[in-house]
Amino acid sequence: MRKKIIIGNWKMTMTNNESLEFVKNIRDIISPGKVDVVFCPSYTAINEVRKRIGSKNIKVGAQNVHFETAGAYTGEINVKMLQSIGVSYVIIGHSERRIKLKETDELINKKIKLLLAEDITPILCVGENIEERLSGTYIDKIEFQIRKALEDVDIRYVEKLTIAYEPVWAISTSDNSSGLVASKKEVEEVAKNIRYIIEKLYGLYIASKIRILYGGSVSSQNSKEILETENIDGLLVGAKSTKPDIIKIVEIANKI
Ligand code: PGA
Repeated sequence: MRKKIIIGNWKMTMTNNESLEFVKNIRDIISPGKVDVVFCPSYTAINEVRKRIGSKNIKVGAQNVHFETAGAYTGEINVKMLQSIGVSYVIIGHSERRIKLKETDELINKKIKLLLAEDITPILCVGENIEERLSGTYIDKIEFQIRKALEDVDIRYVEKLTIAYEPVWAISTSDNSSGLVASKKEVEEVAKNIRYIIEKLYGLYIASKIRILYGGSVSSQNSKEILETENIDGLLVGAKSTKPDIIKIVEIANKI
């Protein structure tokens, strides 16, 4: 039985003080219960957030990592630095990084290999854009992204992987008011295919172990329906993870 997981991707929204204020406001109310809960603040707030929220059994994650373990890379953060402040999850291949920061599949593959070897859980984000959805090539795109991300990954580590299906067209739609959100049927189809892609690559046992999440305008309104979708083991929540909604989303996950 796969344990449910709720991950908050705080993106570039809150300063250190704002993050701590948010944690202070929710820490006595949020209750992880039987669900894994992970907050991914900006680098500058991770350590302080962990100190304030760790006792609630909430873990911290990072939104990125550099693919090398050391070296002259001005401005970058390596895996050891993250481990030293208690990071146990890292979001990799988010579409905002792929599109806006030109992050390639090769780079993503290097980061996945590094994290798995270092016993940190990568949350690999995959998902199609609106053109690929409309032309019906979305499963091919997702399979391509998964195969590239997992190229030469040691099979012993693969079951630690978490994959988040995040259709680009459904991310932050509350901000751009396009209103597009993935339906339960669309999420179900892709989640089933993701598990099948892993089965083709690594066999049934490993495919049955990895957690598959959905992300893209998740809110306290739609989280129940998505969490009840077959093959979905959790949520990657953006905008609503920096709002009190996250308390409700975790509560809902606990009742499923
Ligand atoms: P959103 O972000 O919930 O604001 O759409 C999700 C994500 O980008 O991970």
